[in-house]
Amino acid sequence: MTHALYLARRAALARLIGPHGVAVLPTAPEQQRNRDADFPFRADSYFYYLSGFTEPKAWLVIRGDGRTTLFCQPKDLEREIWDGFRLGPDAAPEALGVDAAFSVTELDTRLPALLDGCDAVWFPFATHAGLESRVDGWLGKLRSRIRYGTLPPETQRDLCGPLDEMRLIKDAHEQDTMRRAAGISAEAHVRAMRLCSQMLREGKEVREYHLEAELLHEFRRQGSQYPAYGSIVAAGANACVLHYRADAGRVRDGELVLIDAGCELDGYASDITRTFPANGRFSGPQRALYDLVLASQHAAVAATRAGARFTDPHDATVRVLAQGMLDLGLLNKDKVGTLDDVIEKRAYFAFYMHRTGHWLGMDVHDCGSYTEPSEIGQKTERRDALTGETLIDRPARILQSGMVLTIEPGIYVRPAEGVPEAFHHIGIRIEDDAIVTDTGCELISRGVPVDPDAIEALMRD
Ligand code: GLY
Ligand code: MN
Ligand code: MN
Repeated sequence: MTHALYLARRAALARLIGPHGVAVLPTAPEQQRNRDADFPFRADSYFYYLSGFTEPKAWLVIRGDGRTTLFCQPKDLEREIWDGFRLGPDAAPEALGVDAAFSVTELDTRLPALLDGCDAVWFPFATHAGLESRVDGWLGKLRSRIRYGTLPPETQRDLCGPLDEMRLIKDAHEQDTMRRAAGISAEAHVRAMRLCSQMLREGKEVREYHLEAELLHEFRRQGSQYPAYGSIVAAGANACVLHYRADAGRVRDGELVLIDAGCELDGYASDITRTFPANGRFSGPQRALYDLVLASQHAAVAATRAGARFTDPHDATVRVLAQGMLDLGLLNKDKVGTLDDVIEKRAYFAFYMHRTGHWLGMDVHDCGSYTEPSEIGQKTERRDALTGETLIDRPARILQSGMVLTIEPGIYVRPAEGVPEAFHHIGIRIEDDAIVTDTGCELISRGVPVDPDAIEALMRD
């Protein structure tokens, strides 16, 4: 029964909030796009993690003893004719393994009794507009009946804390789903690469949206519900715009294409970037920068294992990139000094201005603290060499088996004085998804090659 998975997660959460806690969690709100059209509904990640339930207008109440109550849309034939099937409260206990279920229209009348006698009410802070005042309303109702013996919770706590920690370590079911999501995305990248060189060979005009269409087709063809984020398909100089979105840009023979795209499958994201020559053959300068980014990714992958810090892959990347920038003349040794000076002064930032990774899970930038919880008090202050700002450093998270993160170094060369012209407008990023293991990491997105010769071979066929 799949609902055993969600039962176990709710039981684990109940242990974390303690026997006298109670957790209240709504799913995501529906979002209007314009007039009668809504954005496609996607369940709230925390809510889905604990229930597997994808209908809108639903709430979970989990008591510290593990007893779970679901509030969901009531059965309504007329609405179901227009909007589709509703599970309804009568069928929910059997289908979802919850202990009780009621219509969401009864939420405000039933919630005070569910909170009564608990010492702390847990709900996600600062994530759902209006939730705090809703909780206040239920507590107010309980307090108004205090002379009849009600016991309102005295503490409000942020439910994101325990749930973020749970979600940070992916269980076997999650890892399996993420492997499948990354596999689909990898095939979509292969498809876009192939189409690109093929269309150019046939003398056709290629636009970024032609490649985006290939990605979307493959995602959907293999059962993914939607892209995990807005796909980036950036031709030529557009690759130097970090948050560029697939648009109508012309993909020109001789230029590179950067695609950062991943599907979401059954609630889990994938996040892959590949950069390839539009015509299937790297030029000399393109290949020199590509080899550098790939070498920096190898260094980051080698630094990713249980027991390492979250920042280790980034630091490894930066060392390789910075040395390459000096060797290739992107940075002038006479001006910026040695490798250590480049790192110390963050001179590499002109061409590499983002971090090397982030947690990946239900959300593409997934939840979970980047600071090691066991060392939270050990902060140090430092003056940033580039901006002069005072920054606080806290010990970075120690990686554990089952954490999933991206490894995504890049290099982005905007024209500037002293920067060799051959590299102008080249933007390269290589991004893979890694499951941390005891001895290293498992790259789950390598269904699409990163090796430049393998990319060229794939695009030739
Ligand atoms: N696609 C978003 C990222 O790479 O972080
Ligand atoms: Mn990413
Ligand atoms: Mn990405």
